[in-house]
Amino acid sequence: MMRHSIILGLCSFLFFFGSCRNNEKPEPAETAKVDSLSPSFEDSIRTASAWSKFSYGERKGKRVFDEYCVICHGQHGEGDGFNSYNLDPKPHSLADSVYIAAFSDAALAQVISFGGRGVNKSVLMPAYKWTLRSDQISYLVAYVRLLAHNAGGGPSSGSPNGH
Ligand code: HEC
Repeated sequence: MMRHSIILGLCSFLFFFGSCRNNEKPEPAETAKVDSLSPSFEDSIRTASAWSKFSYGERKGKRVFDEYCVICHGQHGEGDGFNSYNLDPKPHSLADSVYIAAFSDAALAQVISFGGRGVNKSVLMPAYKWTLRSDQISYLVAYVRLLAHNAGGGPSSGSPNGH
């Protein structure tokens, strides 16, 4: 029974990700599908080997990002979080690899630590220096790089191995 459900889980996993592998830029419909994943299915993805391909920092970074940043930056860092309609300017997509490549790790850490005010950007980007530990901030930097790398961040898009 146990074995059965592992195989079943693996199959649906392969089917699901196999179907978006050739899709560099997921259509909006696809994004909606990802967003509507039930928590239990998401959990099964996380515990399946998919996330084990990611570095420790990237996995930790995802947890912090999901907790603190998704509300504005969106699940995939595309600047479409629940709260983003309140933001002017809207955050640039963190999944934009060209844009993010222009930042050094230190520059990303600085934005996250000191917020928009600290780097002459929108004050709506909060400062996290007093909320998060410095290791959490470096995990976030790793995760932002992953978002940019995979244009979506996570096993659902692209190969994490080229990282
Ligand atoms: C209250 C909404 C909000 C939250 C929460 C938030 N951000 Fe932002 N963030 C913004 C806005 C708005 C900008 C754009 C600032 C600008 O371009 O002037 C931004 C910009 C950024 C940038 C710089 C990108 C650029 O365009 O220069 C990074 C990196 C970033 N945020 C990371 C994070 C991380 C990591 C978290 C979670 C710890 C986070 N943000 C939480 C609103 C938010």
